[in-house]
Amino acid sequence: MNNTNPIIVAIDGFSSSGKSTMARRLASAVGYRYIDSGAMYRAVTLYALDKGLFDAQGNPDVEAVVAVLPDIHVDFTPQPDGTQHTILNGNDVEGEIRRLRVSNAVSSVAAIGAVRKALVAMQKAMGAERGIVMDGRDIGTVVFPDAELKIFVDASAETRAMRRFKELVDKGSQVSYEDVLANVVHRDHIDTTREESPLRRAADAVSLDNSGMSLEEQDAWLLNEFHKALNRG
Ligand code: DC
Repeated sequence: MNNTNPIIVAIDGFSSSGKSTMARRLASAVGYRYIDSGAMYRAVTLYALDKGLFDAQGNPDVEAVVAVLPDIHVDFTPQPDGTQHTILNGNDVEGEIRRLRVSNAVSSVAAIGAVRKALVAMQKAMGAERGIVMDGRDIGTVVFPDAELKIFVDASAETRAMRRFKELVDKGSQVSYEDVLANVVHRDHIDTTREESPLRRAADAVSLDNSGMSLEEQDAWLLNEFHKALNRG
C-alpha cells in the first residue's frame, strides 16, 4: 500500500468517552466520511420504542424487533456546519436519538444478535470505498478487523458522565448528574458483558485515556496516529 490509498480508521470505546467528537474531527480534518455506528443502534431503538416493542420492565420484545428490521432504513446527511444528522426512514431523528429514553433502552437492543448482524452488514458496506472513520464498540474487532488504524478510547465513568450531562443540559434536557452517571455505569456493564460482540480492545488497537486532555491535544494525538498509519507499509 502506498500513502495515497485511503485507509479505514476504527475508533472504539466506552459510552461518552468522547470518541464521536474525536472521530468526527479527524474525518473533517482529513476529508474522510464519518459514521457514528452508535447512532444506528439508537435509531433502531427509537423505532422499536415508537412501535411499542418493549414490555413494562423496559425489555425489548426480541422477536418483534427482529421482525421489523427490514422496515428500518438508517442514513446520515451532512449538515452545513460539518456535522451529520441521523435519518430514520426519511425523518431527521438526530435530536430524538440522543434523549435519555433512547439511551436507557439502546444497550438491550444492541445486544440482539440479529440487530447487530443487520447493522454490521450496513457498516461494512459503508466502508467498502475506504476513506472512512467509524466509531462504536466493535468496529476494530468485528466490523473492520483489518482497519489500518484502530483506537481504543477510555476515561473514568465520572468524567464520561459529566461530559454527557453537560451535553444534555446544553441541549435543554432536564436531567440530574446522578441519573446520567447511573446510565453510563449501567451501559458499561451491558456493553462489556453481553454475549454478542462485547466491547473489548482489539489486540492491535492503540489505547488512549483522554480524561485530562483538551480537544486540541486529542486532535493532535489522533492526527499523528493517522499519519503514522497512512505511511505504514
Ligand atoms: O456510542 P453510543 O453511546 O451512541 O452507543 C449507543 C449504544 O449502542 C451503546 O449502548 C452501545 C451500542 N453500540 C454497539 O453495541 N455497537 C456499536 N458499534 C456502537 C454502539
